[in-house]
This record gives sequence, C-alpha cells and structure tokens, in this order.
Amino acid sequence: MVYASFRSIGAYVPSQIRDNEWFIQRMDTSDEWITKRTGIKQRRIAAEGEMCSDMGVEAAKLAMSRAKINPKDIDLIVCATISPDFLCMPSTACIIGNKLGLNDVMAFDISAACTGFVYALSVAKAFIESGMKKNVLIIGAEKLSSIVDYSDRTTCMLFGDGAGAAIISATINKDEAIVDVSCSADGAYGDFLLTPGVERETHFMQMKGNETFKVAVKTLTSDVQKIMAKNGYVNSDIDLFIPHQANYRIIKAVGDALEFEDSQKVLTVEKYGNTSSASIPMAINECYEDGRLKKGMTILLDAFGGGLTWGSAIVKFSGE
Ligand code: UT7
Repeated sequence: MVYASFRSIGAYVPSQIRDNEWFIQRMDTSDEWITKRTGIKQRRIAAEGEMCSDMGVEAAKLAMSRAKINPKDIDLIVCATISPDFLCMPSTACIIGNKLGLNDVMAFDISAACTGFVYALSVAKAFIESGMKKNVLIIGAEKLSSIVDYSDRTTCMLFGDGAGAAIISATINKDEAIVDVSCSADGAYGDFLLTPGVERETHFMQMKGNETFKVAVKTLTSDVQKIMAKNGYVNSDIDLFIPHQANYRIIKAVGDALEFEDSQKVLTVEKYGNTSSASIPMAINECYEDGRLKKGMTILLDAFGGGLTWGSAIVKFSGE
C-alpha cells in the first residue's frame, strides 16, 4: 500500500507591511474597531509587479529545498488561488512550473477560496494513493490586494498577500501517512463571498461578513468534530490545531467550542490578516520555523471559505 506523506513546508510573504493606520487614514474606521472585531494589526502587500505566481515560486523553492527533493522528481503541481496572475489562463500552477523550470509536469489550479490548500492536499493524497503520482507540489498563493475593494470598509481591512507550499510524497511507511482529508462545499451559499466577474464589470470581492461569520463558526467546529470522530482521535492526539486565519473571534469561538488548549491553537491572523488559500500553509510554516512543529507531530487543519467550501485534515508532519 502506498501512502501520502507531508514531507515539507515553505512560505513567502512580501516585505511591505500595511498596518491599521493605513486604513484609518483612508476611511472611517479605527484601530480599536479593527482589532476588536478581527484581531488583525497588519497584513503584507505584494510589491508593484509582484504576482501571485512570484510568491508561490518563493514558497515552493523553500518547500523543495527543505524536502531535499530534486525538482525533476516533482510530477504534479497544484496551485490553490482566487487571485491568479491571469483571469482564466494560463493557470498559476503552469506559470509557477515554468518559473521553476518544470516544463513537462501536469499542473492545474484549484478554486476553493480559503479552503483551497486543504482541497489541494486532498487531490495530492488521492493522486499519490492511486499510484498515479509520486511527488506533488501543492501551493496556496494569493495576491488578494488585487481583488480587494478598498472603498468597502467592511471587508478591505481583512485581507493580505502571501503564499505557502508543501511537498507531498509517496511512502510505504504508514506512520508517516496523512491520516485523513475531508472536503465539502455547498453552492447554495455562493453569494456570501463572491467576485462578480467580467460580465458584471467588477472583479472586486464582495462579502456578507456577518452571515459568513456565523456559518464559519458552525461549520469549522462541526467539520473537526466529524473528522476526529471518524478517525477515533481525541484532542490530546493533536499537537497543533491550525485553522484558517480569517478572524481572531472565529478562531477563538471554534477553539473554545472544540476545547483545545491555548498551547495547541495556532494564530497568525494578527500579523498577516486573511490570506485565503495561503493562510493555512503560512501558519504551518510559522510553526515549523519557530520550532513548535517537529517531525512526527500530528496537526489538525480546518478551513472554510467562499463557495461556500470547507475542509479539514489530520496530518502527520514528516518534515525534517
Ligand atoms: O475567509 C473566508 C471566511 N471569512 C470570514 O469568515 C469572515 C467573516 N466575517 C467577519 O470576519 C466579520 O463579519 C467582519 C469583521 C467582516 C465584520 O464584523 P461584524 O462583527 O460581523 O460586524 P458587522 O458587519 O455586523 O458590523 C458592525 C458595525 C456596523 O455598524 P452598525 O450598523 O452596527 O452601526 C458596521 O457599519 O460595524 C460597522 N463597521 C465598521 N466600523 C468601523 C463595518 N466595518 C467597519 C470598519 N470600521 N472597518
């Protein structure tokens, strides 16, 4: 039996920091409101001309070097993004592949908003377990500053740019295997978070924030309860709980409902805001770099986003 293992993590954030003051100077808002309602203090913003693929490439290079993998051994590239370099084609995965010199490799994008990285993980796992691929590069990369409506004070302060990437490889060692990934969607809530698009003459994101907030808390909580029960896991089996970083209040409500200890909960939203599909791999990378995440640990991922989409995963981290 072949299993899929989570072999390495990498991330990249642009150097430009946008703090709450930037918004205060441009619209009717306050540091107190943003901090209290979202927990966000800063976001990273891509430089002029810096594209989604550029950030994905940097994250991918780090993930590949940490996996000590020969790039020629990558046989699938999956990029999750809702802010691609080009509207429909070429896919950002193709552009990343080209920039990495991987020019004869299957590559495609996933559009599942903030759940995109977990969707990419499930695709990688399925391709590997079926025997079709051996080493999959998965990426969550977002230049959300290109689709945020900076005249809408109810959403614009939430989002930032960045990227995360991982190498998922085949293994015969069951102890290294990704335990489970579960993804779902309900298009009936499609209008909660949307970018109207070409025919409606705007590519800017619109969100029913309050409605989304309530469904997010409920879904993120029940999704974890389901995957934990299905796999016979209890909280003490989890080293780190890494939820999508949308809003501190959502993470707190979900973390409290699930009764995780503070030491298990991972929070990066204060520094980076909501980076959609990049948020979970960026948070995994942060734990890896600050020493909280070590080989053999079990992490629980929990994502929710536009679509609506949601997904969770129980992952053994196999990175050195
Ligand atoms: O990543 C995918 C998933 N995304 C999410 O899950 C995001 C979910 N939503 C949220 O994070 C929150 O709903 C927001 C942070 C967007 C908003 O927080 P809220 O507690 O739901 O606020 P609200 O929309 O109910 O608005 C409360 C008040 C309103 O004023 P009134 O009507 O009570 O007088 C807004 O006009 O806050 C006002 N408001 C602001 N005030 C100052 C809205 N935006 C701002 C602002 N500054 N930037």
